[in-house]
Amino acid sequence: MPTILAIESSCDDTGAAVCINGKIVANLTAGQKIHEKYGGVVPELASRAHEQHIIPLVETAIKEAGISTKDLDAIAVTKGPGLMGSLLVGVCFAKSLSQALDIPIMGIHHMQAHILAHFIDDPKPEFPFLCLTVSGGHTQLVKVHNTFSFEIIGETIDDAAGEAYDKIAKIIGLPYPGGPLVDKHAREGNPHAFEFPFPLREGLNFSFSGLKTAVLYFLQKKIKENPDFIKENLNDLCASVQYRINSILMEKLENAAKSLYINQIGIAGGVSANSGLRAMLQEYGVKNNWQTFIPKFEYCTDNAAMIAISGHYNYLDGKFDDLYMTPTARIPL
Ligand code: KG4
Ligand code: ZN
Repeated sequence: MPTILAIESSCDDTGAAVCINGKIVANLTAGQKIHEKYGGVVPELASRAHEQHIIPLVETAIKEAGISTKDLDAIAVTKGPGLMGSLLVGVCFAKSLSQALDIPIMGIHHMQAHILAHFIDDPKPEFPFLCLTVSGGHTQLVKVHNTFSFEIIGETIDDAAGEAYDKIAKIIGLPYPGGPLVDKHAREGNPHAFEFPFPLREGLNFSFSGLKTAVLYFLQKKIKENPDFIKENLNDLCASVQYRINSILMEKLENAAKSLYINQIGIAGGVSANSGLRAMLQEYGVKNNWQTFIPKFEYCTDNAAMIAISGHYNYLDGKFDDLYMTPTARIPL
């Protein structure tokens, strides 16, 4: 019945969570507003903010869980992929605490953890399970054989889906991170107002850079005709961009499910917080007779609860690391 403290610091959000016997009893995230004015995450500033947030966040998570540090059985921490300086803050803190409390440490793969977020609440997917993992840095179609075995069957050849959302949002003039704002405006817009192109239809890999360029050229032309074009069409623009990104994602997911004969289908990662994608998955699920899985909103974007549940499975399997464990910016799934 392990009690696990989890720490996530791979990018610009610091997370701390506590999981008791597979149940999340505390899950806190401290965001970093500082990057907004730079139009993207500034790694050095992210590391400094993690350093400021990590101790109060862990203290609060332990308090909220109603436990003390001596109740902890192990510490789970994101070891990568992510920004090196940010990862180092979480890993060094976790190592120090594990040594001070004399409890084991478990290094967790961030993208595997996004997938394992499906195992926080019931109902849980059965294996094999097909997961579309869409975040700021990754877009992957993953066949999940069990909680430790992941097989990539398709991925992006250029931009990740979240990156596409953020870059196109920037072209439209929305601040970073643009994904949630596109989602917000899209709710009031017509997804078929503008038809953006559908790139690369063969195989299970994705490509989003052509769409980004198409939106850029489309807007340059429209703004020449009417300088207020974006302002006057913001909701329709966001709805049409969102519809195209999500339909690219769903077409590949559907093809993958059909070719693998899998009907346990989920989405994970920051972009799975997108209301249009969540709704589209349900529609495709009904059409294809899938059992669909979408993590709770707070378990989609970066969070420590997903690191905690991954730690829970590692603990039960006796998968521990030692103090020689180091973070890695890029790790295969
Ligand atoms: O998984 P995540 O929190 O961090 C990474 O591991 O990268 O994903 C962040 C990405 C960003 O690109 C952000 O714009 C996107 O997820 N995102 C969204 C939404 N919420 C977050 N994209 C579209 N709609 C949303 N509601
Ligand atoms: Zn993530």
